[in-house]
Amino acid sequence: NSMCISAVSVVLFLFILWMLVVQLCRLTDRQSDGDAKATAVPKLLHSLSKRFSRTLSPSLSGPPSLPLLGNMLDVAQEHLPIHLTSLARRYGNIYRLNCGNTTMVILNNSEIIREALIKKWSDFAGRPHSYTGDLVSSGGRTISLGDFSEEWKAHRRVAHSALLRCTRDSLHSVVEKQAHHLCQVLWDYNGKSVDLSEDFTVAASNVITTLTFGKSYDKSSVDLKKLQDSLNKIVSLWGSPWISVLDSFPLLRKLPNPPFSRLMKEIARRDELIGKHIEEFKVRMNGQMMQTLTDTHVHMTTVDLLIGGTETTSALLNWTVAFLLHRPEVQNKVYEELCGVLDVRYPQYSDRHRLPYLCALINEMLRLRPVAPLAVPHRAIRNSSIAGHFIPKNTIIIPNLYGAHHDPEVWDDPYSFKPERFLEGGGGSLRALIPFGGGARLCLGEAVAKMEMFLFTAYLLRDFQFLPASKEEPLPDLRGVASVVLKVKPYTVIAHPREQ
Ligand code: HEM
Repeated sequence: NSMCISAVSVVLFLFILWMLVVQLCRLTDRQSDGDAKATAVPKLLHSLSKRFSRTLSPSLSGPPSLPLLGNMLDVAQEHLPIHLTSLARRYGNIYRLNCGNTTMVILNNSEIIREALIKKWSDFAGRPHSYTGDLVSSGGRTISLGDFSEEWKAHRRVAHSALLRCTRDSLHSVVEKQAHHLCQVLWDYNGKSVDLSEDFTVAASNVITTLTFGKSYDKSSVDLKKLQDSLNKIVSLWGSPWISVLDSFPLLRKLPNPPFSRLMKEIARRDELIGKHIEEFKVRMNGQMMQTLTDTHVHMTTVDLLIGGTETTSALLNWTVAFLLHRPEVQNKVYEELCGVLDVRYPQYSDRHRLPYLCALINEMLRLRPVAPLAVPHRAIRNSSIAGHFIPKNTIIIPNLYGAHHDPEVWDDPYSFKPERFLEGGGGSLRALIPFGGGARLCLGEAVAKMEMFLFTAYLLRDFQFLPASKEEPLPDLRGVASVVLKVKPYTVIAHPREQ
């Protein structure tokens, strides 16, 4: 109780002080209209008031901010995308949260997100600087975490054109090969009930390693295990509160922190492993992507593509099978469409226009479970505005893609799994579907991910019927676990081969 009373008195005191400052400044305003010789002190107060009132953007509402903690308790919620979406229902599609000395603005509707990321891309293409982010990205030298600068633009341009060239020349055959291999692995399970997440990760990771190192790995490969293990540990340690607290409270960096020491060790291990793969590749020189990248770009681009392109695609495949276990009639519809259109042959990406139900299923999965639910935080590079609200330079912008995809103003029955909404006349809006973000920071791997999702899903549903592990076990939990990537909780499934 006494804590509560002292917190209330601090807030009251600050409020009274603030009101005094505002009153004084109003007075000075009136005075200075008629008297150019306003004293130095009110002038100072005046400029302070202007600065603060702009910085705090009073017109932007948000949940009450606690003294010292600000909205830390909101940000520490277990399923952050769901929590931020529920706050949007209370505070509107754009609201603010305070963390330490940083103001974050949360965008929860696709039009508002499009305004910031696409229409005003040059105002919001920055990334926040953070102590731990700099350590993970070797001083902001990755594409995903690097701030907007001439060097970053050149880095992204080179990596993008190399990826485009690969997509045009060889991506289809690379993904096809992995899709065939994945089906083979599932056949070998012989109807046993298994957790497929590792197989999905290997398939997605092999697409990226073929493009970057010119090499793919078997599930049992020690090299692959080490690499995946290191990248996963970095992502999960970096997301942990023990580490993120160091960004807001620099004093804590002086204290011993075992998770932080583990993170530093993993970063060193990652760089050693990737360095080794790149050296091997240079010797063979038959990898397809790296030929267009200079040495300095190669290392961190590889980290970007492996982190950005493995867990995302594999999480989406895992979600798809989980939802299909709940709704067997949907997988039957996809199977019938595949048989009707292709007869017995395997699909090509160019068949997608003739397979509308399969495409609708993929779109519905991207809507319901956008695997990067809060994208990656943006930073305002200069003073700007969003939806008519003033946004000062350095504000952190969080595009809540999960919230935008569950906006009841845009989506009919937003929490229901309804692939048909994306069929012609079904009412689903492709404009409001923004799982890859947009603008200058649009997901670099969008084209790769789309081809992977199409071919992997089509191959899997052509060859297998996915059945629950047993009648006794509950079906997969569809709420998921949200970190940087939104994942389904582990579950097992039977991949029953279809008769061709
Ligand atoms: C279903 C799969 C995927 C989804 C839903 C997805 C989504 C996203 C999102 C939302 C962002 C952040 C955009 C922003 O900051 O506004 C992003 C960034 C990024 N993604 Fe993806 N992604 C997927 C797959 C991939 C793949 C396969 C790759 C690599 C081949 C990749 C590489 C990247 C990179 C490098 C960035 C950072 C871009 C930048 O900061 O400029 N992603 N992705």
